[in-house]
Order: sequence, then C-alpha cells, then structure tokens
Amino acid sequence: MLICIPEVLSKAEVADFRRLMDAVDWEDGRSTAGAQSRMVKKNEQLPPDSDLSRRLGARIVSALTSNPTFVSASIPLHIFPPLFNRYGVGQKFGVHVDNAVRGDPLTGLRIRTDLSATLFLGEPDEYDGGELVIEDHYGSHEVKLPAGDLVLYPSKSLHMVTEVTRGARVASFMWMQSMIRDDHARSMIFDLDTSIQALCERLGRDDPEAVRLTGVYHNLIRYWAET
Ligand code: NI
Repeated sequence: MLICIPEVLSKAEVADFRRLMDAVDWEDGRSTAGAQSRMVKKNEQLPPDSDLSRRLGARIVSALTSNPTFVSASIPLHIFPPLFNRYGVGQKFGVHVDNAVRGDPLTGLRIRTDLSATLFLGEPDEYDGGELVIEDHYGSHEVKLPAGDLVLYPSKSLHMVTEVTRGARVASFMWMQSMIRDDHARSMIFDLDTSIQALCERLGRDDPEAVRLTGVYHNLIRYWAET
C-alpha cells in the first residue's frame, strides 16, 4: 500500500527547516547505507547524529504522531529518528531495498523496518528528476510531492530515486515499525478505519452499527497487534 499524506508540515515550517539546513555542513550519504545500497547511493545527508538532524527529526515525529491519517495508515510502534538528504545535479539512488533492521547508536532503539516514508522538503518545480520510484505488485509508481507532503510505502518494496538533472532535491526520510507487521492486514485495518470514519460522519458516532464496526476495528487490532 502506497499512501500520500498532504501537509504533514506547513509551508512556513518547511521554509524554517530549509533555512536551518542550509546553514550547516552535509556529509556523504553512504555513511548510513548497507553493503548493497552503498554501491548505488549517491547523495548528501545531514550527519544523522548531529544536533540539527535530531531536533528537526523530533519536530517531524511530533507532526506525524498528531496526524490522524498517518497514525491510521501506519499504526506505529516505533519511528526511527528521521534522516535528511539532498540530491544535487547528477546524483541519484539506484534500485534497492531498505535494511530490514535499523539500530540507532544514540538512543539504543532497534526496529524492524515495516514502513518507509519520504517527506518532501522542496517544491517539485525546484528540481528536475529526483522522482521516488516505488515498485509493487501493480507496477512502478513515480512520486514527487509538494513540499510538506509525505509518502508512506512498505519497506519491503524495491525503490529508487532517479537522477537529478536540475536544481536540488531536499527531503527527509524515515522508517517505522508498525504494531501490525503484515502489510495486507495493515491495509485492511486502514480501509476499515477510513470507512468507519465516513459512516460516522453520515450516521453519527452513536449509530449502533457504526459502534459495532468500531468495536470490530479495535478487536482486529487487539488480535494482530504486537507491542
Ligand atoms: Ni531506500
């Protein structure tokens, strides 16, 4: 399941992020890559353990955990500290799958990566190329969103970032461990929740069938959740 979530950050917040990010030094993006992705990754990133990366990352995590669509779609158990990258002209990230497990040396957090997310921090007209291409059973999908918007996709999918041919592509990316490990189960839970919200809107929250379905929703989570 691939989900685009608009306006995770406001345009003013994005501008503030960009101003702070422009004022510091960046490093080679291969410092966090695994053996295979190291060969195909060509970009720059904010040093992951730096004060700025952690501070901005915390702001993103706080925006995500208060975003109902994000919470409903991911049912997060852990969110790995977000990372920040920049692709200049000629830079790209070839086809790869993200590492299955990520450990954070600063906090000791270790997660299974069920979901990956990219939060766009530049407008599409700031650069050419730089599309995130995600493959699933339905083919490959090109994603390039407005600044402040986020795309969520299963970490198990092959994906790449195409070469930037003009300007620079600035983004944050992160991994989540979901309480619902199985992508298929998580998709059904999300569909059910979305339908229940629409039903409640139409019939009221006290409609007996809406109440019963809300119970089914929670009982499915109770059945599947790993905490
Ligand atoms: Ni990746």
